[in-house]
Amino acid sequence: MNSETRNLSEDLDEIIIIDDNDTIGEQIKTETWKMIIVDDDIEVHHITKLVLRDFEFEGKHLSFLSAYSGAEAIQLIKDNPDTAVILLDVIMEKSDAGLNVIKYIRNELGNKIVRIILRTGQPGETPEEETIISYDINDYKEKSELTSKKLLTSVITALRSFRDLIVLQNNKLSLERIINSSYVIHRQKTLNNFINEILSQLLYLLYEGKKYVNNYYSGLAAMMDGDEFVIVSGVEDYANVNGRYLKDVLSQEEFENVLETLQAEGIVCKGKYFIACFKNEAITPVIVFVRCKNDLTEWEQDLLAIYYTNAFIALDNFMLTNEIESTQKEIVLTLGGISEARSKETGNHVKRVAEYSKILALGYNLKEEEVEILKQASPMHDIGKLAIPDAILNKPGKLTAEEFDVIKTHSQIGYDMLKNSNRSLMKVASIIALQHHEKFDGTGYPQRLQGENIHIYGRITAVADVFDALGSERVYKKAWDLDRIIELFKEERGKHFDPELIDIFFDNLSKIIQVKDSLADI
Ligand code: C2E
Ligand code: SIN
Ligand code: SIN
Ligand code: FE
Ligand code: FE
Repeated sequence: MNSETRNLSEDLDEIIIIDDNDTIGEQIKTETWKMIIVDDDIEVHHITKLVLRDFEFEGKHLSFLSAYSGAEAIQLIKDNPDTAVILLDVIMEKSDAGLNVIKYIRNELGNKIVRIILRTGQPGETPEEETIISYDINDYKEKSELTSKKLLTSVITALRSFRDLIVLQNNKLSLERIINSSYVIHRQKTLNNFINEILSQLLYLLYEGKKYVNNYYSGLAAMMDGDEFVIVSGVEDYANVNGRYLKDVLSQEEFENVLETLQAEGIVCKGKYFIACFKNEAITPVIVFVRCKNDLTEWEQDLLAIYYTNAFIALDNFMLTNEIESTQKEIVLTLGGISEARSKETGNHVKRVAEYSKILALGYNLKEEEVEILKQASPMHDIGKLAIPDAILNKPGKLTAEEFDVIKTHSQIGYDMLKNSNRSLMKVASIIALQHHEKFDGTGYPQRLQGENIHIYGRITAVADVFDALGSERVYKKAWDLDRIIELFKEERGKHFDPELIDIFFDNLSKIIQVKDSLADI
């Protein structure tokens, strides 16, 4: 054992401090859906509990908390940040007591997740529509309307969107951590510390995930020393095996899997096992081995694949700091490819978008380096879709307005994931992720930017992405034929799209069609 090897749990503590948002994890772990009933009329509490007594959503019942004034409500929500739904009376001790509660929850507590259903006593007491929109009120009902059936429907809708928001938030946290984790890793000075760090990052990611995936992990890292792998750090089942030979600690079958992974020089996700091999010319092979209680879910496997690419890049940086270029390309393709796989888009989508972007950028007379960097970064435009729940992303039919609102967050999420990197490629990718759904006439999202306020990279990727999306089959639509796409592009010149880019598009149509055909989906 090297004296520089730090204690793994110390490492974990250190990393956990970076940012932590445990309330979110808690929300999904609870045994019931917490509901706070706020009303100054005690009858309303009785009736509501009576109607919802046997209510069940996704196998969990409701548990009720009661507040009889705005002040009590504020205290309750402070003490119960994992509340799913609040049924809120508008007029209590004051005529605006309910609205003050809402403002407090959204602005002071910063809780954007709890769903709020407003109830008013009299018709005509309607809060302004603006209030409903700006404070994200889930539903609004007059008390007389809240017959048992309507109440049930409202609560189901609220819980469904609560659940989606939690998944979204959790996914987003994990993904941000993956991108950011490379910073911590880059700082490692010695190889042993570095290996410790790679293992801690991995387990930290998995444990973050454990809050909504019910799994338990034991992990170790081993390094080749002479002809044998020697364990250099471990946790849980492997907490006390440092310095021992890997083959003596693992079962024969497990060790064979390790050798297989070593041969493949990659990762193996097999049932309950995740094994990663880190190896390049400059370094003696390192093995990271994780054994889980349950089989790895698809989400865990996605997470592990991204982790591996990132850790590998960190390793390369660690060993040879000046050869970053090629690994950068690799992470771009991996990330782009994974988001594409999640949304069941075809293998060539990201490649075509890259080529179309290049053609448009050349036509726009961007500098050669800019063209190249745009081409490399544009495939990551939809990286934020990784955080969107499957049920929405891969819904076969038309999305509801609420579902589309969730999808729309993929722009901001992608930006947040990429923005912290110092690499110019990642910076460009973050702009594209943020702005690829802006429209030239200012009707796009998320910022409703207009004209040349939209970065040229965003404007170009918009054309490339929509051209490819329309020409491709999606779970929710058939592929359009070329004539129909061309018609839409003419129609949208100066509306959705930069008119100059549409002209460049048509000037280069034959080249574009050539790319479309040569990279066609089978
Ligand atoms: P995407 O499938 O990659 O589509 C990218 C963009 O291409 C869309 O951005 C839109 O501008 C354009 N586009 C795609 N299909 C059509 C179409 O049939 N007609 C028209 N006029 N334009 C089309 P948008 O609308 O902001 O959507 C962003 C993402 O939201 C889509 O990415 C897709 O993942 C998802 N989405 C949009 N609508 C639906 C839907 O009805 N069902 C499902 N499951 N997903 C949808
Ligand atoms: C970084 O620039 O270090 C973060 C993103 C990456 O690892 O490529
Ligand atoms: C879309 O935004 O749905 C496609 C282009 C348009 O019709 O504006
Ligand atoms: Fe998109
Ligand atoms: Fe796309």
